Amino acid sequence: VAEGPIVHARDARGVLSIGGVPLDHVLAAAGAATPAYVYDLDAIVERTRSLVAAVGERGLCAYAIKANAARPIVESIVACGAGVDVVSGGELMLALEANAPADRIVFSGVAKRDREIDLALARRIRALHVESVEELPRIAARARAIGVRAPVCLRINPEVEADTHAHIATGHDEAKFGIVAADLPAALAAIDASTSLALVGLSVHVGSQLMSPEPYLAGVDALASVATALMGQSRTLEYLDCGGGFGVPYRDDQRAVEPADTVRAARARLAERGLGALPVVVEPGRALVAAAGVIVASVIQPKVSGERRWLFVDAGMNDLLRPALYQAFHRIEPLLDEGGERVAFRVAGPVCESSDDFGVHRLPKSPPEHVVICEAGAYGRSMASTYNQRAIAAELVVTNGRVLRV
Ligand code: LLP
Repeated sequence: VAEGPIVHARDARGVLSIGGVPLDHVLAAAGAATPAYVYDLDAIVERTRSLVAAVGERGLCAYAIKANAARPIVESIVACGAGVDVVSGGELMLALEANAPADRIVFSGVAKRDREIDLALARRIRALHVESVEELPRIAARARAIGVRAPVCLRINPEVEADTHAHIATGHDEAKFGIVAADLPAALAAIDASTSLALVGLSVHVGSQLMSPEPYLAGVDALASVATALMGQSRTLEYLDCGGGFGVPYRDDQRAVEPADTVRAARARLAERGLGALPVVVEPGRALVAAAGVIVASVIQPKVSGERRWLFVDAGMNDLLRPALYQAFHRIEPLLDEGGERVAFRVAGPVCESSDDFGVHRLPKSPPEHVVICEAGAYGRSMASTYNQRAIAAELVVTNGRVLRV
């Protein structure tokens, strides 16, 4: 069990390091200004290896590239033997450019465009993960036009309530994702009606930032029930995809189960239900990258306003949307900590929105020059925008003590 967020080491001067390199040196080596995203590639590789091992030799760890699509990160994850879970033609192209073998790419999403379906079929990816009955004849038509048989996997909606923020819970019956049990017969009939479709698997994803294994395993149970029923109808399945959603501790009082332990528990559950022979696919996004990334920001100025002590920094909600969108908390640490007294500051960015607010953090009383926004490796840059005509921040990668600009 991982206890609280990972605390990055400080060097003898008190400067926070990432991947063993002090962050001021990282920025200087790359000639980068703030704000900047900095990632520890070696930590990402270590996490990926642990999940690749947990799915077993016949299984597949398909990285949800939406979490962070920086090229060196995707290349390194793929080089560990992982595949990629994509949700758009753009992500599919990135995965292929990062050397992901097509047969290790799965494509989810409720509204795939015809040209995205065409790309997936032409590149012979592992499967299209289908989220509605209506999607099946659309895929069949494109497969016929191209002259291929489309491998499809049905994403079931397990009707499980995940204990997470409503915006990132996906497995309940009101969500737009997946096919509910009542619609499965129609989906199977649509597959049987077309010689251009081949059912290859079943998938489920109950939500993101799950802090306990229970909702994940509830999704696996739902998957197992459908798989057992289909195999009883003499249908063959090539894999069972249990989804992603492995939570990461963002606060000191949070505990997260090791994703590899949850994957092993999922495999044990499938084995208990007589499905141990089927390869397992998992789709981790956040768990591979969140804790391995930070945003380095400069302090612009404080503002004391009545009781409130603000600290304005040059990173904003356009660089990290999670606090504004999900009321998410990200730890903020001074880049340099000389051990002096700390006081509470409310840290906010320059964007003209009240929600451009990173919450209250204890920081040195005499405001630091730079701060570090932690656990920002997932859904930071990938959700960034140019709102207020702000530039997209630079991305830097640290590996083996060296610094590369993405
Ligand atoms: N598989 C499917 C089908 C998904 O929809 C997702 C995430 C994942 C895998 C990866 O989930 P993860 O392991 O990263 O939790 N922007 C939000 C998270 C949205 C997740 C959307 N789907 C955030 O910043 O918390």
